[in-house]
Amino acid sequence: MSVKETSILDECECVIYKSTIGQDVIDLTPILEKKNLLCYDFGFVNTASCESKITYIDGDRGILMHRGYKIEDLTANKNFLEVAYLILHGNLPTKGGFEIFKAELDSIKPEIELIHKIVDLMPDGSHPMSIVMAFMSALAGKRYQDKTRTNYQKALDAIKQTMYVTSAVNCRVTEREFNPSKNDEYFTNAFLRMSLDEKIANSKVIQEAIDKIFILHADHEQNASTSAVRLAESTKCGLYSSLVSGFGALWGPLHGGANEAVLKMLQEIGKKENVKDFIEKVKNKVDGVRLMGFGHRIYKNYDPRATGIKEFCPKILLETGVKDSLLEVAVEIEKIALSDEYFIQRKLFPNVDFYSGIIYKAIGIPVEMFTPMFAMARTIGWCAHWLEAVSSLDQKLWRPSQLYTGEIERKI
Ligand code: CMC
Repeated sequence: MSVKETSILDECECVIYKSTIGQDVIDLTPILEKKNLLCYDFGFVNTASCESKITYIDGDRGILMHRGYKIEDLTANKNFLEVAYLILHGNLPTKGGFEIFKAELDSIKPEIELIHKIVDLMPDGSHPMSIVMAFMSALAGKRYQDKTRTNYQKALDAIKQTMYVTSAVNCRVTEREFNPSKNDEYFTNAFLRMSLDEKIANSKVIQEAIDKIFILHADHEQNASTSAVRLAESTKCGLYSSLVSGFGALWGPLHGGANEAVLKMLQEIGKKENVKDFIEKVKNKVDGVRLMGFGHRIYKNYDPRATGIKEFCPKILLETGVKDSLLEVAVEIEKIALSDEYFIQRKLFPNVDFYSGIIYKAIGIPVEMFTPMFAMARTIGWCAHWLEAVSSLDQKLWRPSQLYTGEIERKI
């Protein structure tokens, strides 16, 4: 990290580290040590947990960049694997570099037998995220003694295995046979072919839309699940175990589980005419109800990922011939919320999860599979952050402290 300047605070000299763009970061250790205090930052609202070069977000302006490229440029001009390469390697691939990357991925053998075992073993009614996590745990077990893979090879392995297990879980939920793909198929097309009806999987419009949606989910700097991956790895538990932590954190409805919650919310609202009443409930915080798919810790403007996904909705509905009144409900929610003082004051805008479910539903992905779809794409980001963490010179166990407010010493 480069030191920008030091600042004298309460006669303590504190180092301020310089960012290349966005907020600089201050190390308050000297002042905290002098005062014998800890920093209280509940929810890590003001905490930079690490140094990273992968993704930058300007939440006030609604800007998202990977390795310096704006997300809109990436979705307009690159495919998911090219963006995956960029996120993992730091630069866009040359034609040759892309071929090598694809060949590296193609050469990884999917763990079909293990996938079948775990997918078949999980109890009836298991949520798909729990099955994906169980598989990743099993893979952590299987790879535990394996010293042959480099860190980079482990990352590619995890990316490939996650795609296959997600497809297998989708097949379990939709009661179709899991037919593993030929190993040289393009990533997104292979997933669609293994998971969905042939007509849908072969549609160029759908292939392109899902590929772009994967790009929009690929990474998002130090969000809760990525932080979970980094925290787990700080104990040196290894990639596969760290990913299990990531899957678990993503599952929650305040994070990646929001896409499932949005669809359930839209179904509950049912029709456009009911939106006003629902919004009133949200504003009055009746039973703590929130407008799912709205709001973000970092974005205080429209989430650029939501813009991208919203654009695909009418195209996909047209392509599939699905007439989904839930899109109307979603558009009405957005219209009312964006002109309402409650949402304006709190800067609450649609996020990445608001429209994605409508697309997944139209192509035949069941609602409980929405979060695994998010996770499959996010595995790219988790792996890139894991690689960055394990190659960093700053290696330290992540171990927060607490404000203790329990009993003082008592005698039995
Ligand atoms: N609906 C209604 N009110 C909300 C919402 C919402 N979705 N989000 C925040 N608020 C209100 C909140 O009640 C609070 O109001 P008040 O000042 O009156 O107490 C204010 O806005 C600030 O909320 P907060 O909970 O302090 O904000 P946060 O930064 O901790 O929460 C969030 C971020 C994403 C957890 C929250 O906006 C939320 O619960 N959204 C719904 C779930 C969701 O869509 N999550 C997916 C996020 S995008 C996917 C990803 O990258 O993870």
